[in-house]
Amino acid sequence: LISPLGLQSFDHGYALSKELASRLGIHAGLIDVHVFPDGESRVTVQPPARTTILYCPLDHPNAKLVELGLAAEALRGEGAERLVLVAPYLCYMRQDRAFHPGEAVAQRSISRWLACHFDRIITVDPHLHRTSSLSTVFPETEADNLSAAASIAAFVVHKKFSSDALIVGPDSESRQWVEQIATQLNCAFLIGEKKRLGDRDVRLEFPGCRLSGQSTIIVDDIISSGQTIIEAIKGLKAAGAGDIFVAVTHALFSDTSLEAIYAAGVREVWSTDSIPHSTNRISLAPLLAAALQTEKQ
Ligand code: R5P
Repeated sequence: LISPLGLQSFDHGYALSKELASRLGIHAGLIDVHVFPDGESRVTVQPPARTTILYCPLDHPNAKLVELGLAAEALRGEGAERLVLVAPYLCYMRQDRAFHPGEAVAQRSISRWLACHFDRIITVDPHLHRTSSLSTVFPETEADNLSAAASIAAFVVHKKFSSDALIVGPDSESRQWVEQIATQLNCAFLIGEKKRLGDRDVRLEFPGCRLSGQSTIIVDDIISSGQTIIEAIKGLKAAGAGDIFVAVTHALFSDTSLEAIYAAGVREVWSTDSIPHSTNRISLAPLLAAALQTEKQ
């Protein structure tokens, strides 16, 4: 007999998917992936539920996307009527325009492909630069854009910073989260001026900023090369900041960026578990479970 609601996940997200499943009171099934010597994958799903949630953080996404599509096909073939993708980190959202002739608009192409497979897509703070909302990216699919800002603020509250601590955003895009977190913590905030000149070449300033040793907490949606955060740390130190902390939603981190961030002089780096990483301190399971309650009705 097919059950009404179930959740399945690949190995790379399995530990976190179990926490989510237990909050929903359902079982987390593990999808098996066998990679053949030629690099192709054989994907084997568990028996589906009528509504099956597929939990899949889409960092380093190229192979994951192929396996996700194969799993979705298999689940439909085995009788799933509704498929819900939970991708706490949603890939390819930044390339929303062809900046040079011939460039693929990856956001459009990947979102169309995901929309072919899923009835609902749930993600957290997708990096939408020039796109007004997630429903513009998925015009014909249910799409939930959740924010980690309240979860980050709740975590920082427990750290018991003094009231002169400053919440810092490296650029104007981070203002949406920084402002919300500062309001929740009843702290002042500061936004930097950033210019990106290349993948690993970032210039960042805090014009006119003078600090007198207070703690600062830099908040951003993504750390990838780490250059944005490193430049922000340098700017804050030059301005007279005391201890510097970093809170980030998506810990994409390239190989050496975490070491470089610590070398720049940060006290602690905290991330949400949207992507499994050693810096994960903030669970998104409560946020995701709340959004998925409607699937239980
Ligand atoms: C960009 O606008 C984002 O909000 C992040 O600041 C950026 O993706 C971080 O990238 P990186 O760590 O490579 O500087």
